Amino acid sequence: MYFSIEQIDPHNEPALKAWWEVGQAATAGRASMPWPVWEQMRSIATTTNPERALVFLAAIDGREMVGAALAAHPLLENTHGVELELYVRPDRRREGIATALLAEAEALTRGAGRTTVWSAALVPPGGTAPGEAFAHARGFDVASRESMKELTMADYRARRQAALDAVGGASDGYEIVTFDTVCPEEHLVSFGRLLGMLNAEIPLGDLDLADAEWTPERMRAAEQRQVAIGRHVLTAIAIAPGGTVAGASDVRVNDTSPTQGQVGITLVDPGHRGRRLGLALKVATHDLALSSYPRLRSVETSNAEVNTHMNAVNEQLGYRTVETVLELQKKL
Ligand SMILES: CC(C)(COP(=O)(O)OP(=O)(O)OC[C@H]1O[C@@H](n2cnc3c(N)ncnc32)[C@H](O)[C@@H]1OP(=O)(O)O)[C@@H](O)C(=O)NCCC(=O)NCCS
Repeated sequence: MYFSIEQIDPHNEPALKAWWEVGQAATAGRASMPWPVWEQMRSIATTTNPERALVFLAAIDGREMVGAALAAHPLLENTHGVELELYVRPDRRREGIATALLAEAEALTRGAGRTTVWSAALVPPGGTAPGEAFAHARGFDVASRESMKELTMADYRARRQAALDAVGGASDGYEIVTFDTVCPEEHLVSFGRLLGMLNAEIPLGDLDLADAEWTPERMRAAEQRQVAIGRHVLTAIAIAPGGTVAGASDVRVNDTSPTQGQVGITLVDPGHRGRRLGLALKVATHDLALSSYPRLRSVETSNAEVNTHMNAVNEQLGYRTVETVLELQKKL
């Protein structure tokens, strides 16, 4: 091998910048999930994350970085696996660089006593991309298929009233409360209980993922990290007549990229479904995102293809599929 695989220290700024440039070049053609701008990546890489430990790997040929990988080790649950991203510069493909990065990541995974590697490949709807062939060649299974969808704010504005009309009086009695990142203290425990249901309630396909326990301490720590990296989690929660948090949705916007948002989670408690809360919550978060970021141009969301109810809500809002996400899993 004429290149070497090395772990880089994210506080070594020139090394991290070279790593970021490889990822930027490798993802330049994708239709969704824009590669984070440099300031955002630096902030993500150097701010302690209580949820995950990050390991940055690089493939180096002489004085050039040609491949990059990020292995995120969940620390609180799903500690049996590692989430892996792999990127190879387009002019250096099919030289075995990703294979070598994967081998190193797998060695680290085993060394940490973990047994599963999760990754993802983006492909055009109905088409394919190198990530799919690579995953197939290197022993990953497609554990779930998701649609990556985009909503332009022009389309949202055109559909908003019809969405509100569709909600009508269906969620009367529920109160929608919105906030930027930091949950009001009186709803914290109940919101945490709802978040704890997420993995049990969303279709995961064959992904071997367990649920999290969201204690108030953990929620506050996670919020503080979002604040520290300049990410605004613009959230709406639905409060049932008894005071319970019955549903939640959010749109995330980074201060460094105020024209683009991403939906994080959307969840309605099974006991409170059928009242159009999903749609009402999404209208509330999109309104909040637009009023907080008037330059917002579009929001992206990703849902399992089999998630009929969520897909219906998104279609009603005007979301359109732009890419397919193959959720990959490899058991070592
Ligand atoms: C996917 C990616 C990381 C592969 O990097 P790479 O260094 O070219 O991969 P390798 O050279 O190690 O390929 C290993 C094997 O995967 C398969 N493969 C990789 N790219 C392929 C392609 N474009 N078409 C067909 N097979 C391909 C082949 O079997 C290849 O072995 P071979 O060259 O001996 O036939 C690279 O294309 C990339 O950066 N894509 C964008 C980011 C991405 O999709 N990452 C997620 C991957 S899980």
